[in-house]
Amino acid sequence: MKIVVLAGGLSPERNVSLSTGTMVTEALRGLGHRAALVDLFFGLEGHTGALEDLFDAPLSAEAKHISTAAPDLEQVRASRKDQSASVFGPGVVELCQAADLVFLALHGACGEDGRVQAAFDLMGIPYTGAGYLSSAIAMDKDLTKRMVEEVVSTPGWKTVHYTAEDIDGLVAKARLPLVVKPVASGSSIGVSIAHTAQELRAALTEGLSLGGRTVLEQYVKGREVQVGILDGTALPSIEIIPKADFYDYANKYQPGAALEVCPAPVTEQEEKKLREAAVRVYELLGLSVYARADFILDEAGEPWFLEINTLPGMTPTSLLPQEAAAVGIDYPTLCQRIVNASLE
Ligand code: DAL
Ligand code: MG
Repeated sequence: MKIVVLAGGLSPERNVSLSTGTMVTEALRGLGHRAALVDLFFGLEGHTGALEDLFDAPLSAEAKHISTAAPDLEQVRASRKDQSASVFGPGVVELCQAADLVFLALHGACGEDGRVQAAFDLMGIPYTGAGYLSSAIAMDKDLTKRMVEEVVSTPGWKTVHYTAEDIDGLVAKARLPLVVKPVASGSSIGVSIAHTAQELRAALTEGLSLGGRTVLEQYVKGREVQVGILDGTALPSIEIIPKADFYDYANKYQPGAALEVCPAPVTEQEEKKLREAAVRVYELLGLSVYARADFILDEAGEPWFLEINTLPGMTPTSLLPQEAAAVGIDYPTLCQRIVNASLE
């Protein structure tokens, strides 16, 4: 099968996405597919052969001139502020149209948030994972919590949209500790736990630089447990025990920075509750193919839903592949299952 693995992009999770994309491309090639890693904004990344060879598709002059030079990210980010600029790098759409399937290895804004999915729907390009609407809802932590609070427990929260002048007032009113998160980001970028007024002030100030729509969520003391879902069925849960602090960006992607235990050492009853909650959220949001729901398991053994990721990381340190491995699904098989479920 001819598969474009679409990765990169310009979200803060660009590097995570490239790591996912590289692993997925290798796995798909190992399975005999003709897979190419394509950077959403910059075209082919690290591809050295002739582009025409890739999919036997005659490509336009534009597609043939995709640069593989290291991109100047800041310059491109600035140019993308111009709303008339396409997010698709030169030739990218053409390559996607020449493929049988686009494997979305994107994370974060413009990839996980439904916009690429909506564009592909309109262009008739098949892709992996959830559709545009479910993706858009799941990317927004506020909308997700509003929708799922009827079916699962989720920590109390308030979503604030503020300017620098509002920070004092927000700090004065806050009941600490709080978890502070950008409403639509991933990999814990910009997430912090504020125990003190000073920490809250710092977190809100950082939140401003990330767009200023911020979720202030009640801190629930407990264990961090996540549940992957593959084709509607929950995988065994995994517990993350960061060696320091919480499971932030550094702990997520530095090998050995967190202890990950799968299946999680929880009781049968707790495992059942976690899996049921994950599937309930998945179904309520109309998700498909795969996802990973994140929870805090409190001291009484109750799961508190935090968020669901519609394009969960597939990097060397990521959790979904570990959960799949726990039930005998190795990495290439996981990729193939994602491909199959997406084409159903
Ligand atoms: N946002 C990262 C990639 C994850 O959920 O795994
Ligand atoms: Mg996330």
